[in-house]
Amino acid sequence: MENDLLTVQNVSISFTQYVQGLKQHELKVISDLSLSVKEGEVVAILGSSGSGKSLLAHAILGILPENGNCDGTIAFKGDVLTQEKKEELRGKHICLIPQSVNFLDPLMKVSEQAIGDVKKEDREKALEHQREVFAKYGLGEEVDDMYPFELSGGMARKVLLSTALLTDPELVVADEPTPGLDEASVKETINDIKRLSDEGKGVLLITHEIDVALKTADRIAIFYSGYVIEINKTENFNDVDKLLHPYTKSLIEALPKNGFKLTEGVQPLEVVNGCPYFENCPIRSDICQDNIPDLINHDGVMIRCHNYKKEVD
Ligand SMILES: Nc1ncnc2c1ncn2[C@@H]1O[C@H](COP(=O)(O)OP(=O)(O)O)[C@@H](O)[C@H]1O
Ligand SMILES: [Mg+2]
Repeated sequence: MENDLLTVQNVSISFTQYVQGLKQHELKVISDLSLSVKEGEVVAILGSSGSGKSLLAHAILGILPENGNCDGTIAFKGDVLTQEKKEELRGKHICLIPQSVNFLDPLMKVSEQAIGDVKKEDREKALEHQREVFAKYGLGEEVDDMYPFELSGGMARKVLLSTALLTDPELVVADEPTPGLDEASVKETINDIKRLSDEGKGVLLITHEIDVALKTADRIAIFYSGYVIEINKTENFNDVDKLLHPYTKSLIEALPKNGFKLTEGVQPLEVVNGCPYFENCPIRSDICQDNIPDLINHDGVMIRCHNYKKEVD
Protein backbone atom coordinates (compact mmCIF):
# COMPACT_ATOMS: atom_id res chain seq x y z
CA MET A 1 0.00 0.00 0.00
CA GLU A 2 0.95 3.61 -0.41
CA ASN A 3 3.51 4.98 2.06
CA ASP A 4 4.06 1.55 3.60
CA LEU A 5 7.64 1.00 4.56
CA LEU A 6 7.11 -2.72 5.02
CA THR A 7 4.34 -4.72 3.43
CA VAL A 8 4.02 -8.40 4.26
CA GLN A 9 1.41 -10.17 2.17
CA ASN A 10 0.10 -13.72 2.52
CA VAL A 11 3.35 -15.01 3.95
CA SER A 12 3.52 -18.64 5.02
CA ILE A 13 6.62 -20.25 6.48
CA SER A 14 7.11 -23.98 6.73
CA PHE A 15 9.89 -26.46 7.28
CA THR A 16 10.57 -29.61 5.37
CA GLN A 17 11.33 -32.27 7.91
CA TYR A 18 12.39 -35.83 7.41
CA VAL A 19 10.67 -38.26 9.70
CA GLN A 20 11.57 -41.93 9.84
CA GLY A 21 14.22 -41.88 7.18
CA LEU A 22 13.03 -40.59 3.85
CA LYS A 23 9.47 -39.62 4.62
CA GLN A 24 9.04 -35.87 4.16
CA HIS A 25 6.83 -33.87 6.42
CA GLU A 26 5.88 -30.23 6.01
CA LEU A 27 5.73 -28.34 9.30
CA LYS A 28 3.76 -25.14 8.82
CA VAL A 29 4.60 -22.48 11.39
CA ILE A 30 3.17 -19.29 9.86
CA SER A 31 0.06 -19.22 7.65
CA ASP A 32 -1.10 -16.49 5.30
CA LEU A 33 0.30 -13.61 7.31
CA SER A 34 -0.27 -10.05 6.17
CA LEU A 35 0.70 -6.83 7.88
CA SER A 36 2.28 -3.48 7.16
CA VAL A 37 4.42 -0.88 8.87
CA LYS A 38 4.43 2.77 7.87
CA GLU A 39 7.09 5.41 8.41
CA GLY A 40 7.05 6.63 11.99
CA GLU A 41 4.86 3.77 13.11
CA VAL A 42 5.40 1.03 15.68
CA VAL A 43 3.50 -2.14 14.87
CA ALA A 44 3.65 -4.88 17.46
CA ILE A 45 3.18 -8.52 16.68
CA LEU A 46 1.95 -10.21 19.82
CA GLY A 47 2.14 -13.97 20.07
CA SER A 48 3.12 -16.68 22.51
CA SER A 49 6.56 -18.28 22.60
CA GLY A 50 7.31 -20.74 19.84
CA SER A 51 4.59 -19.30 17.60
CA GLY A 52 6.97 -18.29 14.81
CA LYS A 53 7.62 -14.64 15.56
CA SER A 54 11.39 -14.84 15.17
CA LEU A 55 10.91 -16.75 11.94
CA LEU A 56 8.88 -13.86 10.58
CA ALA A 57 11.68 -11.46 11.54
CA HIS A 58 14.22 -13.71 9.88
CA ALA A 59 12.10 -14.01 6.74
CA ILE A 60 11.95 -10.21 6.45
CA LEU A 61 15.71 -9.97 6.88
CA GLY A 62 16.40 -12.91 4.55
CA ILE A 63 18.11 -15.04 7.18
CA LEU A 64 15.75 -18.03 7.42
CA PRO A 65 17.50 -21.37 7.92
CA GLU A 66 18.15 -23.53 4.85
CA ASN A 67 15.24 -25.89 5.45
CA GLY A 68 12.75 -23.03 5.83
CA ASN A 69 10.35 -22.28 2.96
CA CYS A 70 8.75 -18.87 2.70
CA ASP A 71 5.79 -18.15 0.38
CA GLY A 72 4.01 -14.86 -0.19
CA THR A 73 5.54 -11.44 -0.67
CA ILE A 74 7.56 -9.08 1.48
CA ALA A 75 8.00 -5.58 0.10
CA PHE A 76 10.01 -2.58 1.22
CA LYS A 77 8.66 0.80 0.05
CA GLY A 78 6.61 -1.02 -2.55
CA ASP A 79 9.48 -3.08 -4.00
CA VAL A 80 8.99 -6.81 -3.62
CA LEU A 81 12.10 -8.22 -1.98
CA THR A 82 14.06 -11.06 -3.49
CA GLN A 83 16.70 -12.79 -1.40
CA GLU A 84 19.30 -10.69 -3.19
CA LYS A 85 17.50 -7.45 -2.44
CA LYS A 86 17.08 -8.44 1.22
CA GLU A 87 20.82 -8.93 1.50
CA GLU A 88 21.39 -5.53 -0.06
CA LEU A 89 19.07 -3.77 2.40
CA ARG A 90 19.99 -5.79 5.46
CA GLY A 91 22.13 -3.94 7.97
CA LYS A 92 21.64 -0.70 6.05
CA HIS A 93 17.99 0.18 5.42
CA ILE A 94 16.44 -2.69 7.39
CA CYS A 95 18.02 -3.72 10.69
CA LEU A 96 17.31 -6.43 13.20
CA ILE A 97 17.60 -6.03 16.93
CA PRO A 98 18.05 -9.73 17.56
CA GLN A 99 16.29 -11.67 20.28
CA SER A 100 19.38 -13.25 21.69
CA VAL A 101 22.69 -11.93 22.89
CA ASN A 102 24.06 -15.04 21.17
CA PHE A 103 23.99 -12.92 18.03
CA LEU A 104 27.06 -11.18 19.47
CA ASP A 105 30.46 -12.70 18.87
CA PRO A 106 31.73 -13.76 22.32
CA LEU A 107 35.36 -13.26 21.34
CA MET A 108 35.11 -9.71 20.10
CA LYS A 109 34.95 -6.44 21.98
CA VAL A 110 31.57 -4.81 21.51
CA SER A 111 32.82 -1.68 19.74
CA GLU A 112 34.77 -3.79 17.24
CA GLN A 113 31.79 -5.92 16.34
CA ALA A 114 29.47 -2.94 16.25
CA ILE A 115 31.51 -1.25 13.51
CA GLY A 116 32.13 -4.52 11.67
CA ASP A 117 34.53 -4.77 8.76
CA VAL A 118 35.69 -1.29 7.85
CA LYS A 119 38.66 -0.10 5.86
CA LYS A 120 41.65 0.93 7.95
CA GLU A 121 41.35 4.58 6.95
CA ASP A 122 37.64 4.65 7.93
CA ARG A 123 38.14 2.96 11.28
CA GLU A 124 38.54 6.03 13.44
CA LYS A 125 35.47 7.69 12.02
CA ALA A 126 33.44 4.50 12.45
CA LEU A 127 34.47 4.20 16.09
CA GLU A 128 33.64 7.84 16.69
CA HIS A 129 30.16 7.30 15.25
CA GLN A 130 29.73 4.10 17.26
CA ARG A 131 30.62 5.98 20.47
CA GLU A 132 28.12 8.72 19.63
CA VAL A 133 25.29 6.24 19.09
CA PHE A 134 26.22 4.15 22.13
CA ALA A 135 26.25 7.31 24.26
CA LYS A 136 22.82 8.27 22.92
CA TYR A 137 21.48 5.03 24.34
CA GLY A 138 23.23 5.47 27.67
CA LEU A 139 26.25 3.23 27.19
CA GLY A 140 29.39 4.67 28.82
CA GLU A 141 32.83 4.56 27.23
CA GLU A 142 33.86 1.62 29.41
CA VAL A 143 31.42 -0.57 27.47
CA ASP A 144 33.35 -0.23 24.19
CA ASP A 145 36.16 -2.50 25.33
CA MET A 146 33.98 -5.08 27.02
CA TYR A 147 33.36 -8.58 25.77
CA PRO A 148 29.72 -9.71 25.56
CA PHE A 149 29.99 -11.88 28.70
CA GLU A 150 30.89 -8.79 30.73
CA LEU A 151 27.61 -7.02 29.89
CA SER A 152 24.61 -7.04 32.19
CA GLY A 153 21.24 -8.00 30.63
CA GLY A 154 20.21 -4.38 30.30
CA MET A 155 23.55 -3.33 28.80
CA ALA A 156 23.50 -6.23 26.34
CA ARG A 157 20.06 -5.14 25.09
CA LYS A 158 21.34 -1.60 24.64
CA VAL A 159 24.37 -2.87 22.75
CA LEU A 160 22.12 -4.91 20.42
CA LEU A 161 19.87 -1.89 19.93
CA SER A 162 22.60 0.67 19.31
CA THR A 163 24.54 -1.68 17.07
CA ALA A 164 21.43 -2.14 14.92
CA LEU A 165 21.05 1.63 14.69
CA LEU A 166 24.58 2.53 13.60
CA THR A 167 23.59 2.65 9.95
CA ASP A 168 20.49 4.73 10.64
CA PRO A 169 18.04 2.21 9.13
CA GLU A 170 14.56 3.18 7.94
CA LEU A 171 12.96 0.01 9.27
CA VAL A 172 13.86 -1.69 12.54
CA VAL A 173 12.70 -5.18 13.41
CA ALA A 174 12.99 -5.60 17.19
CA ASP A 175 12.71 -9.22 18.25
CA GLU A 176 11.64 -9.48 21.91
CA PRO A 177 13.73 -6.56 23.17
CA THR A 178 12.43 -6.67 26.77
CA PRO A 179 12.33 -10.15 28.37
CA GLY A 180 14.60 -10.66 31.33
CA LEU A 181 15.09 -6.96 31.91
CA ASP A 182 14.40 -5.17 35.17
CA GLU A 183 11.54 -2.70 35.22
CA ALA A 184 13.71 0.37 34.66
CA SER A 185 15.42 -1.18 31.63
CA VAL A 186 12.05 -2.22 30.17
CA LYS A 187 10.89 1.38 30.49
CA GLU A 188 14.05 2.63 28.81
CA THR A 189 13.69 0.12 25.99
CA ILE A 190 10.08 1.17 25.42
CA ASN A 191 11.16 4.82 25.30
CA ASP A 192 14.04 4.02 22.94
CA ILE A 193 11.66 2.30 20.55
CA LYS A 194 9.19 5.14 20.70
CA ARG A 195 12.01 7.55 19.99
CA LEU A 196 12.85 5.59 16.84
CA SER A 197 9.34 6.12 15.52
CA ASP A 198 9.48 9.80 16.51
CA GLU A 199 12.56 9.99 14.30
CA GLY A 200 10.41 8.66 11.43
CA LYS A 201 11.60 5.08 11.43
CA GLY A 202 9.18 2.21 11.11
CA VAL A 203 9.41 -0.42 13.83
CA LEU A 204 8.10 -3.96 13.82
CA LEU A 205 8.11 -4.91 17.48
CA ILE A 206 7.97 -8.61 18.18
CA THR A 207 6.86 -9.52 21.67
CA HIS A 208 4.94 -11.98 23.80
CA GLU A 209 4.34 -9.32 26.47
CA ILE A 210 1.00 -7.61 26.03
CA ASP A 211 2.01 -4.79 28.36
CA VAL A 212 4.99 -3.90 26.22
CA ALA A 213 2.87 -3.97 23.06
CA LEU A 214 0.23 -1.75 24.66
CA LYS A 215 2.79 0.78 25.92
CA THR A 216 4.87 0.96 22.75
CA ALA A 217 2.87 0.28 19.62
CA ASP A 218 0.52 2.29 17.44
CA ARG A 219 -1.12 -0.89 16.15
CA ILE A 220 -1.03 -4.45 17.42
CA ALA A 221 -1.25 -7.61 15.31
CA ILE A 222 -2.51 -10.56 17.33
CA PHE A 223 -0.89 -13.82 16.35
CA TYR A 224 -2.68 -17.07 17.18
CA SER A 225 -1.61 -20.53 16.14
CA GLY A 226 0.34 -19.29 13.13
CA TYR A 227 -2.35 -16.87 11.98
CA VAL A 228 -2.76 -13.14 12.46
CA ILE A 229 -6.35 -13.02 13.69
CA GLU A 230 -6.70 -9.29 14.28
CA ILE A 231 -4.78 -6.06 13.68
CA ASN A 232 -6.20 -3.17 15.64
CA LYS A 233 -5.17 0.28 16.85
CA THR A 234 -3.58 0.18 20.30
CA GLU A 235 -6.03 2.78 21.65
CA ASN A 236 -8.89 0.38 20.88
CA PHE A 237 -7.46 -2.10 23.37
CA ASN A 238 -8.76 0.15 26.15
CA ASP A 239 -12.28 -0.80 25.20
CA VAL A 240 -13.13 -4.48 24.72
CA ASP A 241 -16.10 -3.50 22.55
CA LYS A 242 -13.72 -2.05 19.96
CA LEU A 243 -11.89 -5.36 19.62
CA LEU A 244 -13.39 -7.73 17.10
CA HIS A 245 -11.93 -11.20 17.59
CA PRO A 246 -13.10 -13.24 20.59
CA TYR A 247 -9.50 -14.29 21.28
CA THR A 248 -8.34 -10.65 21.39
CA LYS A 249 -11.18 -9.83 23.76
CA SER A 250 -10.20 -12.71 26.00
CA LEU A 251 -6.58 -11.53 26.08
CA ILE A 252 -7.65 -8.11 27.31
CA GLU A 253 -10.13 -9.51 29.80
CA ALA A 254 -7.35 -11.66 31.25
CA LEU A 255 -5.28 -8.60 32.18
CA PRO A 256 -4.93 -7.93 35.92
CA LYS A 257 -6.76 -4.60 35.67
CA ASN A 258 -9.71 -6.46 34.17
CA GLY A 259 -9.76 -9.04 36.93
CA PHE A 260 -7.84 -11.93 35.30
CA LYS A 261 -10.86 -13.33 33.55
CA LEU A 262 -9.27 -16.42 32.06
CA THR A 263 -10.45 -18.38 29.07
CA GLU A 264 -10.06 -22.09 28.72
CA GLY A 265 -8.10 -23.92 26.08
CA VAL A 266 -4.73 -23.92 24.39
CA GLN A 267 -3.61 -23.07 20.89
CA PRO A 268 -3.74 -26.13 18.65
CA LEU A 269 -0.32 -27.54 17.84
CA GLU A 270 -1.50 -29.47 14.81
CA VAL A 271 -2.62 -27.73 11.64
CA VAL A 272 -6.40 -27.59 11.65
CA ASN A 273 -8.62 -27.19 8.59
CA GLY A 274 -10.93 -24.57 9.97
CA CYS A 275 -10.46 -21.61 12.26
CA PRO A 276 -7.63 -22.28 14.73
CA TYR A 277 -9.76 -20.75 17.51
CA PHE A 278 -12.71 -23.05 16.81
CA GLU A 279 -12.34 -25.23 19.90
CA ASN A 280 -12.34 -22.28 22.30
CA CYS A 281 -14.61 -19.86 20.50
CA PRO A 282 -17.82 -18.61 22.10
CA ILE A 283 -19.29 -17.38 18.80
CA ARG A 284 -18.38 -20.31 16.52
CA SER A 285 -20.77 -21.72 13.98
CA ASP A 286 -20.66 -24.68 11.58
CA ILE A 287 -18.71 -22.84 8.89
CA CYS A 288 -15.80 -22.26 11.30
CA GLN A 289 -15.00 -25.95 11.69
CA ASP A 290 -13.82 -26.52 8.13
CA ASN A 291 -13.12 -23.06 6.72
CA ILE A 292 -10.41 -20.71 7.81
CA PRO A 293 -11.69 -17.15 7.44
CA ASP A 294 -9.67 -14.63 5.40
CA LEU A 295 -8.12 -11.62 7.06
CA ILE A 296 -10.43 -8.81 5.99
CA ASN A 297 -10.69 -5.10 6.59
CA HIS A 298 -13.59 -3.96 8.76
CA ASP A 299 -13.52 -0.17 9.18
CA GLY A 300 -9.74 -0.15 9.32
CA VAL A 301 -9.49 -3.13 11.67
CA MET A 302 -8.13 -6.32 10.13
CA ILE A 303 -10.07 -9.32 11.35
CA ARG A 304 -10.03 -13.04 10.60
CA CYS A 305 -13.39 -14.37 11.81
CA HIS A 306 -16.59 -15.60 10.16
CA ASN A 307 -18.84 -14.36 12.94
CA TYR A 308 -17.40 -11.13 14.34
CA LYS A 309 -20.38 -9.22 12.97
CA LYS A 310 -22.62 -11.10 15.38
CA GLU A 311 -20.72 -9.28 18.07
CA VAL A 312 -20.46 -5.79 16.57
CA ASP A 313 -23.91 -5.41 15.04
N1 LIG B 1 15.26 -24.68 11.69
C1 LIG B 1 14.05 -25.14 12.05
N2 LIG B 1 13.60 -26.34 11.64
C2 LIG B 1 12.37 -26.78 11.99
N3 LIG B 1 11.52 -26.10 12.74
C3 LIG B 1 11.90 -24.89 13.20
C4 LIG B 1 13.18 -24.34 12.88
N4 LIG B 1 13.28 -23.13 13.48
C5 LIG B 1 12.11 -22.94 14.14
N5 LIG B 1 11.28 -23.98 13.96
C6 LIG B 1 9.93 -24.12 14.48
O1 LIG B 1 9.28 -22.90 14.44
C7 LIG B 1 8.67 -22.60 15.69
C8 LIG B 1 8.66 -21.11 15.91
O2 LIG B 1 9.95 -20.65 16.21
P1 LIG B 1 10.26 -19.12 16.59
O3 LIG B 1 10.06 -18.26 15.40
O4 LIG B 1 11.60 -19.11 17.19
O5 LIG B 1 9.14 -18.79 17.69
P2 LIG B 1 9.00 -17.49 18.59
O6 LIG B 1 10.03 -16.50 18.15
O7 LIG B 1 7.59 -17.02 18.36
O8 LIG B 1 9.19 -17.92 20.00
C9 LIG B 1 9.45 -23.40 16.71
O9 LIG B 1 8.67 -23.79 17.78
C10 LIG B 1 9.90 -24.61 15.91
O10 LIG B 1 8.91 -25.62 15.99
MG1 LIG C 1 11.49 -15.65 19.08
